[in-house]
Amino acid sequence: MPHTLRSISGPPQRVVLLGFMGAGKSTVGPLLAARLGWTFHDADRAIEERAGLSVPDVFRLHGEAAFREMEAETIAGLLELDQSVIALGGGAVEHPSTRSLLSSQAGTCTVFLDAQLETMIDRCNLSTGVRPLLQNLNALPERYLRRLPLYQQATVTVSTEGLSPDAVADAVFSRLRDRELVADRAGSEKGRTL
Ligand code: S3P
Repeated sequence: MPHTLRSISGPPQRVVLLGFMGAGKSTVGPLLAARLGWTFHDADRAIEERAGLSVPDVFRLHGEAAFREMEAETIAGLLELDQSVIALGGGAVEHPSTRSLLSSQAGTCTVFLDAQLETMIDRCNLSTGVRPLLQNLNALPERYLRRLPLYQQATVTVSTEGLSPDAVADAVFSRLRDRELVADRAGSEKGRTL
């Protein structure tokens, strides 16, 4: 049975940021965590700590399939943490066990940071980080199209097109508040308290 990422049961304990490379997950994550008073975790950094290698070196030395297994195991550990904002690597949702966890775990709210593929590639080219998959630009549209329906199953989707990282964090926070997934910090008690 296909897993959908949409449902969240129980009070939210963690927000998981999804989206393609260049969506802004690792940049927006800490800004959103600050607004929530939560802790930020980046799945790629956690993989690097665990492997004792950079992500490009894991790809180079062990291959993409080994990276995906390491990624799924690392994410399973991160998803046990409460009061957390967690940025996943762009390909994490392709692993069935990660999708299964995201959809079944009480308190997990998924947020898809959306933008045009061209915009995200431009952002990647401006950033300093090395991304192994950017070495084959021709394969990116197919990867993106394969993943898009998985990202679109997130609890909440926010368009990041033309927005600064702070504006995206504000937009995500207000979407969570509108859906009563977080308390209104301005003082209203109508939101669910985390
Ligand atoms: C990947 C995205 C990267 C990183 C790895 C593979 C992907 O993370 O996990 O290079 O398959 O899209 P970002 O989405 O944070 O760039």
